[in-house]
Amino acid sequence: MRLNLGCGFNKRDGFVNVDIGDHCAPDMVHDLELVPWPWDDSSVDEIYMSHVLEHLGPDTASYFAILREMYRICRHDARITIVVPHPRHDDFLHDATHVRAITVEGLSMFSHKNCEEWVAAGNANTPLAFIAEVDFEIVDSEIALEEPYKSKFDLDVLSKAELIQAIKQYNNVIKETKIVLRAVKA
Ligand SMILES: C[S@@+](CC[C@H](N)C(=O)[O-])C[C@H]1O[C@@H](n2cnc3c(N)ncnc32)[C@H](O)[C@@H]1O
Repeated sequence: MRLNLGCGFNKRDGFVNVDIGDHCAPDMVHDLELVPWPWDDSSVDEIYMSHVLEHLGPDTASYFAILREMYRICRHDARITIVVPHPRHDDFLHDATHVRAITVEGLSMFSHKNCEEWVAAGNANTPLAFIAEVDFEIVDSEIALEEPYKSKFDLDVLSKAELIQAIKQYNNVIKETKIVLRAVKA
């Protein structure tokens, strides 16, 4: 089974398209803030969430409950694709229903392997994978640049070093990030 959670009007073929309301005529209506989710343990091969996770879990406990449900329903090795606005892009600020910043580094804290390494090294990182009782590995991540950075980078007018500096220093450089996770259960 493949789930497109918070599908809105962008339905995906081959997926069960799920949304909170029937305004967008999803295949299934479910409020993802409500747990447990209506799918069995280890029953899902793939989850797709485009511009949704930043709308969910306004407090830590509800965010962890959502991640736990995502982990519970995924089979081992299931792929989870998450697309989010960059927290330092104006798009993130404008939508009143955005409740949290989602970053690659933030999601990497839900990996057991990373947490084990941080604990072994004596680092102060909160071992979120242990606390939330989930294990997601980052498989891939991709950024979509805002203009004029995209054109300048594509045309080699902006070097990689200059782009990295701009990302650190300025707003509205990255428009959105796609992060691919793998559920680790074995
Ligand atoms: C910004 S839209 C993105 C829609 C679509 N995924 C896309 O990329 O075009 C966010 C979607 O998430 C849905 N959503 C927000 N909170 C939700 C919740 N608690 N449960 C289920 N869907 C939710 C909204 O109804 C909306 O369709």
